[in-house]
Amino acid sequence: MGFEMTDVIISGSFYREGKFEELSVAVEDGIIRKIGKDVHGAKNIRISGGIFPGATDIHVHFRDPGETHKEDFASGSLSAIYGGTTTVFDMPNNVIPVTDYDVFENKLSIVSGRSFCDFGLYSMYTGSNSSLISSKSSGIKSYLGESTNATAVGGEMKGFDEIEKLPVPKVFHAESFRCLKNHHTEGVKNLREHNLSRPLECEIDSLKDVKGFPLTRKIAAHITSEDSARTLGDSALKEVTPHHLLLNDMDQHGSWARVNPPLREREVQEKLLAAYLSGSMDIVSSDHAPHTEEDKEDFEFSKSGLIGVETRIPLMLALVKKGILSMERFYSTCIRNPAAAFGLRKGELKEGYYADFFAANLSDMSGVKERNLHSKTPFTPFNGFQSVFPNTVILRGEVVIENREAILEPMGRHVMDLRRVE
Ligand code: DOR
Ligand code: ZN
Repeated sequence: MGFEMTDVIISGSFYREGKFEELSVAVEDGIIRKIGKDVHGAKNIRISGGIFPGATDIHVHFRDPGETHKEDFASGSLSAIYGGTTTVFDMPNNVIPVTDYDVFENKLSIVSGRSFCDFGLYSMYTGSNSSLISSKSSGIKSYLGESTNATAVGGEMKGFDEIEKLPVPKVFHAESFRCLKNHHTEGVKNLREHNLSRPLECEIDSLKDVKGFPLTRKIAAHITSEDSARTLGDSALKEVTPHHLLLNDMDQHGSWARVNPPLREREVQEKLLAAYLSGSMDIVSSDHAPHTEEDKEDFEFSKSGLIGVETRIPLMLALVKKGILSMERFYSTCIRNPAAAFGLRKGELKEGYYADFFAANLSDMSGVKERNLHSKTPFTPFNGFQSVFPNTVILRGEVVIENREAILEPMGRHVMDLRRVE
């Protein structure tokens, strides 16, 4: 007689194959062992609301180490779980950029044990450091134009063959260095001027290069237009952000919405949103990039970047509730595709996958209150935007958010220590 030990049974209305189904899920060692209508075990947790696999945000800047007054791994990852995100991938543009294995190891040891969600770390490819990149990197990021704490890859890019051997996504910030230089403008005073100083043409130029790079597993980060998607074709996965989908350069958010690549004209934004809604984009990421009030004081000298790891899922769920975004598109772009791109056993309700979930009630729609967010820099242009926050969040079988409150200490693990998709 087989007697299966399970740690816990989670029951409720799970999203699977395009619809909600009343199911029970047996979890053992944080992994889904059995899914069915009739699964029993010692400890039962009943969850209300629609239950989705935990979400993955492949693009965050948690500033740790180096600028922990802006964010640190604890505050950033706490924000993530409050927003239904159970795995993040953190960018390498720390004050000391993650360009070799020593810097990587140092960062990994500093953030380990302090994360509320599972995490992976990127290394930065500068064009000449391919042999120095840590094999523990979850992804490789390259800046093709200059941005916060990032020097652009200028001129020749060497060692593509070595980069290609690393079996991880290669993510490109595509704004052409040369084009940005040509358009550089001193004293930009508002979002429109910022947009004109880093125009769409620089993004498109750079995406043409990305398309030609002899690499597989490419991801074009934060593309801002339908033309960008058309330029890429299917040469790379296409990432979009809630801010480029929902905001434009005439919005009156001042420096809090100054970001690279910039918010575009309203028409460009609307076409991007339409293209996303109709299935032309693969992944929605937050590009969570906190800065201090001081950094944002004066538009002209303001740092670029805005927060979003906590509001990404809630904002997109509000679009679902309003009937603008289909549930399936929400699920694939915010949950399934980002996890799949990084080979995680996450993002699907499937035996052998990690038991990460969030549950939300679409009827719980309310305005974002920036003061309730958990980033160290809780100012967001999305303040007041309609949102649906999760009530419950589960990380590898453990309830980490209950009734919208965090109830556990950090238990996030480095994704390299988790089982992967073979
Ligand atoms: O606006 C941005 N902020 N764009 C980037 O590429 C970097 C980011 C940051 O780290 O602040
Ligand atoms: Zn970024």
